Amino acid sequence: MQPSQHPAPGVERPWWHDAVCYQVYLRSFADSNGDGVGDLDGVRSRLGYLELLGVDALWLTPCYPSPMVDGGYDVADPRNIDPLFGDLAAFDTLVAASHEHGIRLILDLVPNHTSDQHEWFQTALNSAPGSPERDRYLFRYGLGDDGATPPNNWPSQFGGPGWTRVTEPHGQLGQWYMHLFAPEQPDLNWSNPDVWADLEKTLRFWLDRGVDGFRIDVAHGMAKPHGLPNAEPHQFGLADGGRGPDIRFDLDGVHEVHRMIRSVVNEYPGRALVGEIWVGDDERFGRYLRPDELHLGFNFRLTTAPFDADTIREAIEHSMAAVVTVGGTPTWTLSNHDVPRPVTRFGGGEVGVRRARALALVELALPGAVFLYNGEELGLPSVELPDSALRDPVWEHSGHTRRGRDGHRVPIPWEGYEPNYGFTDGDETWLPMPDDWSSLTVEAQLEDASSTLSLYRHALEIRRTHPGFVGDELEWYGAPEGCFAYRRPGTTLVCALNTSPVPVPLPPGDPLISSAPLTDNGELPPDTAVWLA
Ligand code: GLC
Repeated sequence: MQPSQHPAPGVERPWWHDAVCYQVYLRSFADSNGDGVGDLDGVRSRLGYLELLGVDALWLTPCYPSPMVDGGYDVADPRNIDPLFGDLAAFDTLVAASHEHGIRLILDLVPNHTSDQHEWFQTALNSAPGSPERDRYLFRYGLGDDGATPPNNWPSQFGGPGWTRVTEPHGQLGQWYMHLFAPEQPDLNWSNPDVWADLEKTLRFWLDRGVDGFRIDVAHGMAKPHGLPNAEPHQFGLADGGRGPDIRFDLDGVHEVHRMIRSVVNEYPGRALVGEIWVGDDERFGRYLRPDELHLGFNFRLTTAPFDADTIREAIEHSMAAVVTVGGTPTWTLSNHDVPRPVTRFGGGEVGVRRARALALVELALPGAVFLYNGEELGLPSVELPDSALRDPVWEHSGHTRRGRDGHRVPIPWEGYEPNYGFTDGDETWLPMPDDWSSLTVEAQLEDASSTLSLYRHALEIRRTHPGFVGDELEWYGAPEGCFAYRRPGTTLVCALNTSPVPVPLPPGDPLISSAPLTDNGELPPDTAVWLA
């Protein structure tokens, strides 16, 4: 058994251990200056709402200078703020204001790649093959007599080849560079010491400004296999519903990077790291949460599980098993800016909302940390956008075969009866907002005790105040087919879910909250979850 990340008995638990974190997709949260894109002052203007909702921390998606090819995940300068979002002064004000509201703030760190507009990459393009400038990225010669075939057969995650050929300073076609995402996101060479030193500088830059931690983008990336070999199609993570091994990711060397990050963050007490870890194998997943690596890791099983009690239970069990051997903290999320919203995943319309609400109660009663994605608390669906509105590079690079993630990133409706629902004072929003969202606004839902927002607020309040939310484990009860129930051991708190088509009797206990009204004779209806104590 490895040493645990859990505190010894009697020692206060760190804040992140059971935190409710709220993901602010910055472009879509709140716009303060009328340009139709969310910004830092917009976030600040809504801190009162987030406090009312009852969240402990914000995760802010990238706010750094960027050409915005991939919504800011193409970072041109990791130690500044893009003018679209504000400036460093606005950032400092936001950190201070968040803390005044009792809300911590974590930033999104993108260590796997930079923007092609990053000064390093521009210098590399203007330097000779084999130069130290090129060595910060993954430049290689192509294959064949004319070097016109990419150095290996790796695809990009966004579609198309994982390599782009450059024109050399003297005008000839030359080397290729690797990009596991868009061509505008060249992968860094993590065998180069400059890359390590620069990340350390970035970490300290933001930690010194008072941020409470980082979400690490593609935390299973960075390290690449020696020699960058060709691979068979099944080695590109396609097995097991996309959870299979992938030659491009989860190399052992990546853990050295996380140890470096952790050692820096350890100098700043109370700060936390959460990794984006798309790794399907439980044991390999757990490695990222060893005591000298990340504090938390997103396990995405609940974002892909269909609405079926057995599959959801299996997803929960895997997520727990993945962290238990290393003494890690389970971390739950139902959605983020990369995946379809739960309402839509579960069929859309009333059924979709009903199921998404049920799963929210299942999630919020689990031990560990929870990440909510902005708009999830409003029961927003993903939106079918017209082709002309699509901005995600996935649309172009997949040759218009994958629509990409824009539909999950539509701006938040705050108030009023028509677009832009108080998101901006301007006429346009960066993605169009639907005409039929007036009943989904924050304003409308705050006043409605049966709204999804009221459900989240109430559930978060119970989670904060009820003594049943303790311990690191859960215990499963026997339950009718299509249902499950679990208890937080040592307490009376029970959560039950019914995904079957018929009402079922409740487990023992008094209902605290349910995702839909119980039946007249007190049973748990289909597509509903309940907490009892
Ligand atoms: C992560 C982000 C995603 C981005 C990708 C490349 O998966 O969540 O939005 O496109 O990394 O940075």
